[in-house]
Amino acid sequence: MNAVLQAIRTRRVVRALTAEPIDRERLDAVLDSARFAPHAGNRRLHRYVAVVDPALLRALRMVSPGMLQHPAAAVVVCVDWAEVRSYGFPPSNPGPYIDVGTAAATMLLAAHSLGLGAGPVTSFSRAAVATLLDLPPDVRPELIVCLGRPAPDQPPPVRRRGGPRWETLVRWNRGDAAPPPGRM
Ligand SMILES: Cc1cc2nc3c(=O)[nH]c(=O)nc-3n(C[C@H](O)[C@H](O)[C@H](O)COP(=O)(O)O)c2cc1C
Repeated sequence: MNAVLQAIRTRRVVRALTAEPIDRERLDAVLDSARFAPHAGNRRLHRYVAVVDPALLRALRMVSPGMLQHPAAAVVVCVDWAEVRSYGFPPSNPGPYIDVGTAAATMLLAAHSLGLGAGPVTSFSRAAVATLLDLPPDVRPELIVCLGRPAPDQPPPVRRRGGPRWETLVRWNRGDAAPPPGRM
């Protein structure tokens, strides 16, 4: 199997992290990876806040019930709504939210490829995180990517490995039977 498919299949959300710090080079590589994610309109309407200060990380945890791990670093993915408006996206356009997902998925895979443990968190108080990070009024935090060194003993995955078979999640055309393997 090629390396990309292998990385996609072996990435897991890692919630058991050691107390060790992570090195700057790998954190930079994870931050750099986000700009390679596909973005709506090919615009970069997001801002990333890298949190490495231990006191600030502890404070983030206190306002984030979904942050089960104790991360050594966290990347807070924010949407800059002033940029979104100036680009001309109407409020109903889901692009900025979808971009949060593409950027997060890209960073999670990058972290995994570098041997880091990583996990997304969306269960947190947006208002409290914005205050803690002193964000401008139009910049709203939407997702936190937690990062650290994976602990040697990991709990079993929440669901069975791989999830449901892909065939059960896919419909072909207007409900047709799947075409036979080979050229289509
Ligand atoms: C949009 C989104 C929000 C999530 N929020 C949280 C969260 O707040 N806390 C958490 O521990 N995991 C969170 N997760 C991680 C999922 O629970 C995780 O992907 C799922 O358990 C499957 O784990 P796996 O990716 O290791 O297969 C989130 C995932 C996504 C995509």
